Amino acid sequence: MRLLDKSSSSYLYQQVIDFIEHQQHIGALKAGDKLPSLRKLSRQFEISVPTVKQAYLELERQGRVCARPQSGYYLQAQQARTLQPRPANWSQCQPTEVKCRNMIERVHEAVHFPDTIALGISNPIQAHPPDKALARLMRAVISKVAEKAVSYGPVTGDAKLRMQLAIRYQEQGVNANPEDIVITNGAQEALSIALQCVATRGDVIAIESPCFFGMIELIEALGMKALELYTCTEDGVGLAELEQALSEHKVAACLFSSAINNPLGSMKSDQQRQAMVTLLEQHEIPLIEDDVYSELYFTEKKPKPAQLYSEKGLVMTCSSFSKTAAPGYRVGWLLPGKFEEQAKRIKRAQSCSTPMLQQWTLNEYIANGDYDRHLALLRKTLIYNCERMRALIGEHFPAEVCISKPQGGSVLWVRCQSHVNTSHFFQQALAQGVSFAPGIIFSPSGKYANYMRISFGVKWGDDIVKAIKTLGALVRDYPKNSTQQQEP
Ligand SMILES: Cc1ncc(COP(=O)(O)O)c(C=O)c1O
Repeated sequence: MRLLDKSSSSYLYQQVIDFIEHQQHIGALKAGDKLPSLRKLSRQFEISVPTVKQAYLELERQGRVCARPQSGYYLQAQQARTLQPRPANWSQCQPTEVKCRNMIERVHEAVHFPDTIALGISNPIQAHPPDKALARLMRAVISKVAEKAVSYGPVTGDAKLRMQLAIRYQEQGVNANPEDIVITNGAQEALSIALQCVATRGDVIAIESPCFFGMIELIEALGMKALELYTCTEDGVGLAELEQALSEHKVAACLFSSAINNPLGSMKSDQQRQAMVTLLEQHEIPLIEDDVYSELYFTEKKPKPAQLYSEKGLVMTCSSFSKTAAPGYRVGWLLPGKFEEQAKRIKRAQSCSTPMLQQWTLNEYIANGDYDRHLALLRKTLIYNCERMRALIGEHFPAEVCISKPQGGSVLWVRCQSHVNTSHFFQQALAQGVSFAPGIIFSPSGKYANYMRISFGVKWGDDIVKAIKTLGALVRDYPKNSTQQQEP
């Protein structure tokens, strides 16, 4: 074991920095790797924790290390250029119909292709799957419930699960009642019910741009029109843009990822979220908040739901266990605000109820404390994967490529050079065993042709490194003489 030279004229914290540099030099620490904990290094070198911390803070100041709350310090990828916020070079869009349906279908299909590294789907639990714990609980549930296992369940879902969810919201200060919550088939059904509560065919729904392609498809399937609002890579939709849109268009509702945006990974502050709710309620406009990623925050604290700030009951919260525990269980929920009656009626008409076995299992999972323990580990793994993936992309993609620095979630938003159209090499990537999500599917009007979304919610291994090298080569080899794209 190497010790520091306490008699040297060099400060101890500087010697810690030298040690980290040496580890990098010999390849023992690579970009994206987590540095040893403060405690571990202080024990190893027999120095105080504050001395190690001083070294890490200095490395952070120099931009060589980044700190992630409750997770630790990570070596920054020097080559990974961060996507900086910049004003859009498009002004307000007109409400539009969807142009990218065909590509959305291809991305979905690719998820199930055998022997394909699926970087196109956001499935964070792959990074830390809770399947064994859930299987054990489900077996125990089945043995207890006997023939109830095959019966219809209540329209609004299992009362105990609704109670668990209400308690979790109450802990955040939201005045949630178990009777108000409607359990749904995933967040997607919650979004669909919420939209149908407040809008009808032909109505205009304001959305973030870029936004999750499932929202775009849903708006289209319900015969509504999407109005894209410029969304900042750091703070989400700006109040000024929102106010302008409301003054120019008859907006029936806003559908926003209020906590963490997919694909940007951006997160509004609680104050910004509150200001947004106040503005919308002043205009009597319902806000449908998509909250599926709020448990996957990389910040110190979990973001508060927009629901907390609603005074008129115009906020409807949609979420699910899909990003945190089991997408295949299809269990989500809706907090419908003042639209409770309509929401329950639409749920009954649309799907009658949600499978009970999965709800009972998830209730047990929360009740025995395993869900929260799992979430803590999942967040840690995702933070680690995020840094490693940024480092890999920085290393293997052309130097001009910029990468988002997410505040949570499980995806990176990658901007390639303006001549690149990422949907053009989607098929080629598949042929080489990798899928990704081309940028155009995140905008109903087909913006973001030179962007791609890459998931870091993966089981890390050599195959991931190979997949990123493959994508990097496709971007690098993209013909330079292609027509210049209009950059969003
Ligand atoms: C932002 C966002 N909302 C909603 C969903 C759909 O969630 P669920 O699988 O629970 O229907 C997804 C899934 O990818 C998503 O990314």
